[in-house]
Amino acid sequence: MTNKNIFVLSIIGFCTLFIYSCNSTKNSGNPMAKLTTEKIEEDEISRKVKQLLSKMTLEEKIGQMNQYTGFFDPTGPTPKDGNNKTKYDHVASGQVGSMLNVRGVKEVRAMQKIAVEETRLGIPLVFAFDVIHGFKTISPIPLAEAASWDLEAIKQSARTAAIEASAAGLNWTFAPMVDVGRDARWGRVMEGAGEDPYLGSKVAVARVKGFQGDDLSANNTISACAKHFAGYGFSESGKDYNTVDVGLSTLYNTILPPFKACSDAGVSTFMNSFNELNGIPATGDAFLQREILKGEWGFEGFVISDWGSISEMIAHGHAADGKHASELAANAGSDMDMESHLYVNHLKELVESGKVDMKKIDDATGRILKVKFELGLFDDPYRYCNEAREKEEIYNKKHADAVLDIAKKSIVLLKNDNNTLPLSKNGKSIALIGPLADDKTSPLGNWRLAGEDETAVSVLEGLEKYSNNKLTHSKGVKFVEDKTFFHAHVNYNKDDKTGIEEAVKVAKNADVVIMVLGEHGMQSGEGRSRAHIDLPGVQQELLEAVYEANKNIVLVLMNGRPLALPWAAENVPAIVEAWHLGSQSGHAIAEVLYGDYNPSGKLPMSFPKTVGQVPIYYNYKNTGRPGPKKEVFWQHYTDVTNEPQYAFGHGLSYTTFKYSNLLITKNGGNNVSVSVNVTNSGKMDGEEVVQLYIRDQVASVTRPVKELKGFEKINLKAGESKTVKFTLSDQELGFYNNQRKFIVEPGMFDVMVGGNSVDLLIDGFEL
Ligand code: NOJ
Repeated sequence: MTNKNIFVLSIIGFCTLFIYSCNSTKNSGNPMAKLTTEKIEEDEISRKVKQLLSKMTLEEKIGQMNQYTGFFDPTGPTPKDGNNKTKYDHVASGQVGSMLNVRGVKEVRAMQKIAVEETRLGIPLVFAFDVIHGFKTISPIPLAEAASWDLEAIKQSARTAAIEASAAGLNWTFAPMVDVGRDARWGRVMEGAGEDPYLGSKVAVARVKGFQGDDLSANNTISACAKHFAGYGFSESGKDYNTVDVGLSTLYNTILPPFKACSDAGVSTFMNSFNELNGIPATGDAFLQREILKGEWGFEGFVISDWGSISEMIAHGHAADGKHASELAANAGSDMDMESHLYVNHLKELVESGKVDMKKIDDATGRILKVKFELGLFDDPYRYCNEAREKEEIYNKKHADAVLDIAKKSIVLLKNDNNTLPLSKNGKSIALIGPLADDKTSPLGNWRLAGEDETAVSVLEGLEKYSNNKLTHSKGVKFVEDKTFFHAHVNYNKDDKTGIEEAVKVAKNADVVIMVLGEHGMQSGEGRSRAHIDLPGVQQELLEAVYEANKNIVLVLMNGRPLALPWAAENVPAIVEAWHLGSQSGHAIAEVLYGDYNPSGKLPMSFPKTVGQVPIYYNYKNTGRPGPKKEVFWQHYTDVTNEPQYAFGHGLSYTTFKYSNLLITKNGGNNVSVSVNVTNSGKMDGEEVVQLYIRDQVASVTRPVKELKGFEKINLKAGESKTVKFTLSDQELGFYNNQRKFIVEPGMFDVMVGGNSVDLLIDGFEL
């Protein structure tokens, strides 16, 4: 370093201290001052991390890099390893940095006590849990929440989950899952925000902020984890864990943006993924973890492997054995081993033999300790262990109200011919039919480990509140549920159609039929890929039989993925997409059906007409042979159109919205303003999601026909108008080229604005 540089740095240092001291005496609201304070606190943490690292043995460092699951009583007998040691013994000997699935203040405290009191350095454990959509009070599945396009509500939902989880002693969630999902066969689309990287990024950041709050050390905020890094949502043929092979353009422009957004938003941790990406398992991929994440993006938190994904590199055919897998993973930047039990067994030898550099161990351990300091665990390892909070803050009325709010906002009205909905509240006879109508478990969806079976408000219960109508319930068909929690398949009864006759009778005598059909809560999620995405079992037969008796049907769908329902789309007059909406499902659905809440959700994923169209997404490329054309040789199917059944961004309201006056103003440089007038032209107050798409017409790397680049959810009273404004600048107008450079290219851009990705006002500008 030159003398000049040292001089400049000293001046900066002096100014920093000066600003800091002014800040501490005046306590000013100056954001610059706050930043400086944070910087100094960060430096303080780095100093503490360094100090602690200097005291640690290699074994202790490797211990920090190890996570065990604990579906066992930490104070009772636990399974033994080959050396007759239990996981309990491992914690006591400092071989464990984190526990997964230990929850509840009593359990967490007992486990923490071992780490703090029995290990040489007393380094506290960090306690992880899959808090995916709520803890005990269950909110809608993440795909449903994304359909609300309401970032504040999504943030609040994550806050509620964090408050409950932290009250149960936890301080780390394995959420949000930010994998872009274009393939409805993949069961894990339920955990993400759908097919779009822009919406996905906004939702991801809202969720990170909700979990982590402004102060990670507060006892009601928890570390978030952006997962699964990367490419997991692009598994071939939608089969979970399958191979992923994508080019740089898709990786950089579609898959990575939500991850980058999380990193920029200060997410504490990342999780890598089970899949291989272009021939290298993500867990052992230095390009992803070291070059992109910790290099290009400057991510300072730590990366955990997925469950056993270090050892799975052997099955992938990438690692010869456990030792080799540990070497690959540690060198690639996987900082913590979730349940492969390999780092604890091999890393020491690998460091001693020079296969893994000690600096990498220090880096990984330092990152883990940093997060523990940020969580405040060194100040008080029991700061999340408060019995009074546990009693008060889990599953209370306030949280029930909060999840009801987002549940209503997540519902998407797909179809509403002849204003079938909302239902009249008086003097009607209603037939409620379907295997999911009185189900109190399915609406909770998958990934709700602390949510208890039979606790959701069913549709039946929700509708019963509207007691001026006569309600008759008939299941029609039943499904058989395997009660073991991790059952792989829910067996919809394929043969027993005996209930259909009674359902038809009930339907015949009704003014309106509400049918609740779809997927059991455990038919989507991890390991639940489906090759057929229609109504499982004999539900389609039930639907058609009831339709013969009474055509005035409102179909309420419960599902964790887009379904292909061409018959229903054509024949049934009203269709409501109600996903798996969590604890308050039935109330949310009833309020929408009766018009006490005017639906405002919009699809975050395209709904295909048939599974053969999958993957189907709105931001496709034009190709050299776009259509439609009369002759044969253009990109299309010969037996189904290219359009989805319901497009990305689609969702109706009980009112109507008119768009006018699309205005584009160039402000100089790469800065463009767009405004549009939106009028509530119907008779009911309502909310609309105003969506802005662009198309970069000619580019050095081809761009999609449409890309979402802005949206705003607005509230309009009947007859009211509003002007909605957007700004486009480098971030929205640019893209990554195949040299991984973010560029903005001059030329013509289309600007499209509307209430879905199809019906759009269009204009353009030249950059
Ligand atoms: C495997 C899943 O892929 C991951 O998302 C989850 O967080 C871990 N299991 C831990 O349960």
